[in-house]
Amino acid sequence: MEKKESGEREILVDVKRLERVAYPLLTWYKENGRDLPWRREPNPYKVWISEIMLQQTRIEAVKPYFDRFMKELPDVAALAAVDDDRLMKLWEGLGYYNRARNLKKAADVIVREYGGVMPPQYLELKKLPGIGCYTAGAIASIVFGEAVPAVDGNVLRVLSRILASREDIGKASVKKRAEEMLRRIMPAGEAGAFNQGLMELGETVCVPNGSPKCEECPVKKECLARELGLTGELPVKAPPKKRRIEKRTVCIMEQEDQVALCRREDTGLLASLYELPNVEGHWSLEQLSRVFHFREDQVISAEQLPDAKHVFSHVEWHMIGYRIKVGKGLPKGLIAAKKEELKTIYPLPNAFSRYTKLIK
Ligand code: ADE
Repeated sequence: MEKKESGEREILVDVKRLERVAYPLLTWYKENGRDLPWRREPNPYKVWISEIMLQQTRIEAVKPYFDRFMKELPDVAALAAVDDDRLMKLWEGLGYYNRARNLKKAADVIVREYGGVMPPQYLELKKLPGIGCYTAGAIASIVFGEAVPAVDGNVLRVLSRILASREDIGKASVKKRAEEMLRRIMPAGEAGAFNQGLMELGETVCVPNGSPKCEECPVKKECLARELGLTGELPVKAPPKKRRIEKRTVCIMEQEDQVALCRREDTGLLASLYELPNVEGHWSLEQLSRVFHFREDQVISAEQLPDAKHVFSHVEWHMIGYRIKVGKGLPKGLIAAKKEELKTIYPLPNAFSRYTKLIK
């Protein structure tokens, strides 16, 4: 009981400070908010798609994806009906492909259970596949003006500095506390601008890696980290777990205008996407010819390609590669794709881009 009371007193001190931040932040955002494609004539669908794309990817990188996606899938009904491979092709390069699969699952629910119209309430949005507290908060506040927070990594960094908090921003409890504080100070009728102001401040001014642009900050007077000289140390974030290293050998196997592809399994890493034939381990050409069943007398030329590395969240692929040109048909069991179709039809993850770039 006592601990609870002292926790509440601490929260109140922090909430008071955040209250003083709200108004200057709003004013700053209204004057400095960037003109972004999903902010023009916003609707829940646009905001939803952009927020999912923006998780892990920079704004500038997202823009062309967003425009292409909207052109081809302009509304929930179009998304619910899209072919899976086409959806993956539209998402190709953004990574985290399950996010795109969840978009389609959620669109399907919206069509079946909500008559194709996205529900306007935070709690209803949160029930949809792939929509968590952050995304539900962003849609509900930006589009419908609901007074709910939208706390992402940028917001946590901003709060940790303003409050000079040494708590690890990777912890769920820290995010929960941030949401609770923000709920108490959400300016009436301005939740969307307030949430976006916090995100935008984190992205453009209160930037990570110890180099915030404090002189440009509209709330520098209220920032405890600045006052205490702690901006370089904050926020505290536990280092990520070590990634497993996996060696792989990748093959560009080609015959004239065709190249061999495989389809990945339906579950696990990069599920159901296409890939260049590859095996775990670093293999010699001779070993490869046995795995993929091509006879050496069919090989017109074989060359070693540069090494490549791709970093996923939990694993790193360290790849070596070969280009093998064959005279007769590509090995059985592999997909013989037309090279030009790699650009238009087959979704190939970025992990192979060092090699797919070499296919001419
Ligand atoms: N980053 C992610 N979503 C954003 C938004 N709506 N505004 C500003 N930055 C963002």
